[in-house]
Formats: sequence, C-alpha cells, structure tokens
Amino acid sequence: MNKNSIVSISDLSKKEIMRLLDSAASFEANPNRKILDGKVVATLFFEPSTRTRLSFETAVNRLGGRVIGFSNPAATSTSKGETLKDTIKMVSNYADLIVMRHYLEGAARYASEITDIPVINAGDGAHQHPSQTMLDLYSILKTQGRLDDIVVTMVGDLKYGRTVHSLLMALSDFRVRFNFVACDELRMPEEFLKICREKNIPYRCSKDFSPEIINESDILYMTRVQRERFSDLMEYESVKDLYTLNNSMLSGSKPNLRILHPLPRVNEIDQDVDDNPKAYYFQQAKNGLYARQAMICSALGIDAD
Ligand code: CP
Repeated sequence: MNKNSIVSISDLSKKEIMRLLDSAASFEANPNRKILDGKVVATLFFEPSTRTRLSFETAVNRLGGRVIGFSNPAATSTSKGETLKDTIKMVSNYADLIVMRHYLEGAARYASEITDIPVINAGDGAHQHPSQTMLDLYSILKTQGRLDDIVVTMVGDLKYGRTVHSLLMALSDFRVRFNFVACDELRMPEEFLKICREKNIPYRCSKDFSPEIINESDILYMTRVQRERFSDLMEYESVKDLYTLNNSMLSGSKPNLRILHPLPRVNEIDQDVDDNPKAYYFQQAKNGLYARQAMICSALGIDAD
C-alpha cells in the first residue's frame, strides 16, 4: 500500500487538508505547469462520471502528464471476467497513479492494498468521494473566507450520498453547525450523526425544508436522489421529488449564502436559481480542477511550488 493514497477524507489530517487547499489556490492562480512531465495517470471509471473524470484528466493534461484509462468497463477485460485485483495489478505496471471510481463500497481501499502505486478514490458506491470533498471545502473557503463558524445545510439524499458523508467528516474538524434535511428513508445515517456528537458538532435533523433553515444557512448543499442506489424503484419514485429549491425560496436568505451541489442535478434545483448570484454549483465544479491538481501532486509526492 502506498502511503500517499487518498481513499477516504479521513486519510487526511486537518493540517494536510489545509495544505491541499493552499495548493489548490496556487493552482487556480497558475493551472498550467509542466510538473508532471513523464508521469502517467490511469483513470479507471467503473461507474459513469462527467466532472470527476474530466477534471482529473484535465488536471493531468494541464500539468504536462499523460492519461490512460477507461470510462466504459464493458470495453475492458473486466467483461471477460478479469477480477478487480488483476486489473489493478496490470494497470500498476503502466501508470504512476490510479484514480478509480467503482460502484462497490470499499473497492478503492481494496485497490490501494494490492498495489504499490498511489490510489485516489474518485467515489466508491455510497461510501466516500474525497476529491469532491476537497473541491467542496475549497468552494466554501473561497466563498465564505473561512471553514469555521458557518451553518451548513445538507438536503436530499443523505443516506446514499457519498459526497455529504465525506464532507460531514471533513467539516467535523471545524466549528460548524449542520442542518440535515431529508425524509425518513434518506436521512443521515447514525454513524455520521455519531461523529458529530463525538466531536461536539451541533446538528438538527428535519424533514421540513423550511424558510427558517434556508435563512440561517451559509451553505446550502443540495443533492440528487440517486436512482442507481435504490434496489426498490417504487421507493425511489416515492422520494425523488420531495425537495426542490427554487428562486423564491431564497428571498430571505443571507447575503453570503452560496448554493452548492456536487452535480449532476435532476430536478432538486430549479433552473430559475441558476442566475441567482448565490448559485455556485458551476463554479464549484470548476474548482474541482484545482483541488484535483493539488491532490494528484500530493499523491505523486511532487512539490508543486
Ligand atoms: N460530482 C460528481 O462526482 O460528478 P460526476 O459523477 O459527473 O463525476
């Protein structure tokens, strides 16, 4: 196992997170540097992706490295029955770093344990999405000027949403207050509420996406109800449209409020929000490029400065 692998956000200390955020700011100021010359990064996507894969690949390209990989596992020898273990061992022969998304929780940890090259988890089932967390933290820091003393409201699929799980874990090392807005079927799992309690992070769970909650928030983190995580599609149909943010709901919100969403969205943010200056989700996705440049260099042990 390579010590530079980033499988869970908990693999990073608060100090390391702050160092990566500094590095992301430096990459935003200058994203084109030939510091990955001669390096090959493999992007292995066993699940669909637009932002994560393309921003990781852009990050490598802008730093002068090369990318190999796949986004359609059906076109690889996986479809002939090759195991994940053998796939990782083969790719390790060719690349200096693996960026992997997989539908199975724990797949990235498993991959990191059977190779000597670093692995960055680009999302494993409903478990973790640490590079999304780094760009979320970077977006919060950029828009609020701090990560302490903020009210963060997470809305929607808090049960299966790996982005909210990773973000909660990271923010629990700061002075934040959480609102968790979800229906019973999709509420924040107890293991994450326990983390809040153990770290004295105040939180409130609510089924009601009320004006009071919106108006006290600094960050409104909307999430998609993920059809692909449900085994019972009837259950998905019954909960998929429960929480939709529209522009009129923001009339009493704080001036510094920013609306984040890991994207893709379906209908949880009405398009009439897009032109509101508080809508930040497209810039948030752009910040992913800089956060991932910082993570790639860190995983490869390259000092960007
Ligand atoms: N936020 C995110 O992971 O987006 P993609 O699924 O498009 O990569």
